[in-house]
Amino acid sequence: MPYRRKFLTRAGYTTLSALLTMGFLQKDKQKEDHSTDSITANYINVNSPLRQLAAAKGKRYGAAISSDILLKEKDYANLIARECSIVTPNGELKWNATEPQPGQFTFESADAIADFCQKHNIDLHGHTLFWHMGRPDWLPYPPTLKMIERHVKGVMGHYRKSKVLKSWDIANEIIADNENETDNLTYGLRKGVKPELIRDLFLIAASVDNSKKFYLNDFGIEGATWKSERFLKMVEYLKNSGVKIDGAGLQSHLWFSTAYGFDEKGFNSVLKRLNDLEVKPIITELDIIIDTPLPDSIKKLDQMVADSYKRYLDLCFAAKVDTVITWGLTDRHSWIRHPDWMPRKTFRDNPNLWKFLRPLPFDENLQAKSARNAIAQAFEQAT
Ligand code: G3I
Repeated sequence: MPYRRKFLTRAGYTTLSALLTMGFLQKDKQKEDHSTDSITANYINVNSPLRQLAAAKGKRYGAAISSDILLKEKDYANLIARECSIVTPNGELKWNATEPQPGQFTFESADAIADFCQKHNIDLHGHTLFWHMGRPDWLPYPPTLKMIERHVKGVMGHYRKSKVLKSWDIANEIIADNENETDNLTYGLRKGVKPELIRDLFLIAASVDNSKKFYLNDFGIEGATWKSERFLKMVEYLKNSGVKIDGAGLQSHLWFSTAYGFDEKGFNSVLKRLNDLEVKPIITELDIIIDTPLPDSIKKLDQMVADSYKRYLDLCFAAKVDTVITWGLTDRHSWIRHPDWMPRKTFRDNPNLWKFLRPLPFDENLQAKSARNAIAQAFEQAT
């Protein structure tokens, strides 16, 4: 059966939108209270907005979004509002955006996202207070404790009273990729970063606003790797230091392939160890690339992406993960397609392969793909 008929037609969306407008699904109440997403549980099916399918299981679904696109592209803004109960700003809360000059703060673009969240009853995930990238030119890495203190006070302070901003990636990507990139083999921190500095960063954050959830966020930790081992050690160190750390963000920029397997056992053990440490795992930047050898059609590729989403999310939900954020909602805006970020030489050197970079649930025309159906099914089947 053609995929479109199988799970999503324009008519399906139109009918649902009409029901929403009529108040049949209590859309108005959603503005006040997230639990109303789940009031609709009796009416939902696989075509329902992902936020409703997630809410029916006490979970959240969301995406990374950009304020400039939100303002320019109405169809995109509508899709975000329809599908997401949580969003992460793509760049608006990074240091280069919020403190472009020392001590001078600016929140125009981040506030535009916060206002959008307020209007559509969406949680905002604050990304990020500390990162080796997304830095203004004047900022060293790592920054001094004084710079960190001023920054955290400035940025977290601005959102202290926010009703939508519920969580922060306090630190992002602090673990090196391998032992050659660190001078600390125990924790594997990027060169120059001391565990005490990260501890103090979390302490400062808690002193500014401990009402939000605090995460340590990283990539390449979705399996038993040198890096995930160091990440877990660092989480353990922070817990043992008595600082507030509520969760671990598993970014999940994933590569699936027919040529090699996904390390399910290793991934499950990471999830288990986090749960044992009482540090909640959430999925913060999920997208799926299919590596070479590529299938001979886009249809087959989309199915591989969808199957990979399903397989991955089934594992997450079995471990009680309750928040899934994809790094973008549509292939139109995926970072993977940006020439500066394009993955691996295979793709960079072969523009004819770029059409195979389809990592997200909706395509460049904002039409749902099989991946969206797979995410919907994973939420439906979650216990
Ligand atoms: O908005 C400007 C535009 O006005 C200008 O014309 C253009 C010129 O290149 O740049 C645009 O800004 C770019 C921005 O993305 C929006 O597309 C920046 O140059 C570019 O550096 C920026 O890259 C972002 C990157 O983080 C650095 O902040 C990517 O979009 C974003 O996807 C990426 O996100 C990271 C996460 O924060 C952490 N985990 C990995 C993830 C992917 O790399």
